[in-house]
Amino acid sequence: MGVVGCGLMGSGIAEVCAKAGYTTLVREIDDRLLARGLERVHKSLGTAVERGKLSPSERDTVIGRIRGTTSLDDFRDCELVIEAATENPDIKKRTFAELDRICAPHAILASNTSSIPIIQMAGATQRADKVLGMHFMNPVPVMPLIEYVRALTTSDETLDAARRFGESLGKRVIVSKDRAGFIVNFLLIPYLCESVRMLEQGFATREDIDVGMMLGTSYPMGPLTLLDFVGLDTTLFIADILFDEFKDPRFAAPTLLRQMVAANFLGRKTGRGFYNYQAGERPPSR
Ligand code: CAA
Repeated sequence: MGVVGCGLMGSGIAEVCAKAGYTTLVREIDDRLLARGLERVHKSLGTAVERGKLSPSERDTVIGRIRGTTSLDDFRDCELVIEAATENPDIKKRTFAELDRICAPHAILASNTSSIPIIQMAGATQRADKVLGMHFMNPVPVMPLIEYVRALTTSDETLDAARRFGESLGKRVIVSKDRAGFIVNFLLIPYLCESVRMLEQGFATREDIDVGMMLGTSYPMGPLTLLDFVGLDTTLFIADILFDEFKDPRFAAPTLLRQMVAANFLGRKTGRGFYNYQAGERPPSR
């Protein structure tokens, strides 16, 4: 297994692959980011031990299956590579072209993109039939779903092999056609944007919006808390891609969301979003 990128998603993907028994190579662009990513994996495995999901010896075995690198050339023996780099089409296309040159002809190449059409990455390779989307959900070790995206060119054999792989991770697999938002974000993003519009219009307090959906519909988190968790910048980025593709006002990002991103109120990752974590605020919980 190869994983490109050891950020929030890449480190989670590397962790679940290694937990399922795969020897996993994970690549970051420099030693500092690699060390930070591997630290994230260790921390999450530590949490799994604390929660009784893994024994300390299993944790050590899992850690032993993960190796970090800063060079894609080390991926030459990988059977499957999952790309989880920055959501930038040019970077992704370059990475796929490079992987296509390095990996064996039978290797499958997948992207964890949440929004970029898979055909763009497939078209950068000479193996468009062996390219698909594998969209993991955050937090990867906990969320039981992977959303697969079948490009126009993805073959049945690739999809079958990928499906067996996903199930070997203990995840449920769903399949979407290759259009912006796939299944989950096509439904989730308008819901999140609508919650921001509701707050912006002074229709209800942030707590009441969150508690309403948490207790009224049994979502684990209210929409504004989820926005802080996913990242306001990530949500805005996906909303803009959806709006570009469909020109549908459902996907138009609310002004408040755009302004909060400009103010660097990105959610948990910057300590402030709809809730001010730096100031000790906590979103409502059950
Ligand atoms: N490894 C393994 N298991 C872990 C773990 C880890 N590192 N950390 C936590 N867990 C387990 C816990 O032991 C617990 O298991 P049980 O239910 O068996 O007890 C479970 O995970 C839940 O953990 P917690 O009790 O710590 O936390 P919680 O109950 O408050 O749930 C949450 C946290 C899972 C994040 C929950 O709030 C949730 O599901 N929120 C919504 C998340 C969501 O919607 N994610 C999708 C975002 S959209 C996306 O990703 C797509 C995109 O493109 C934007």
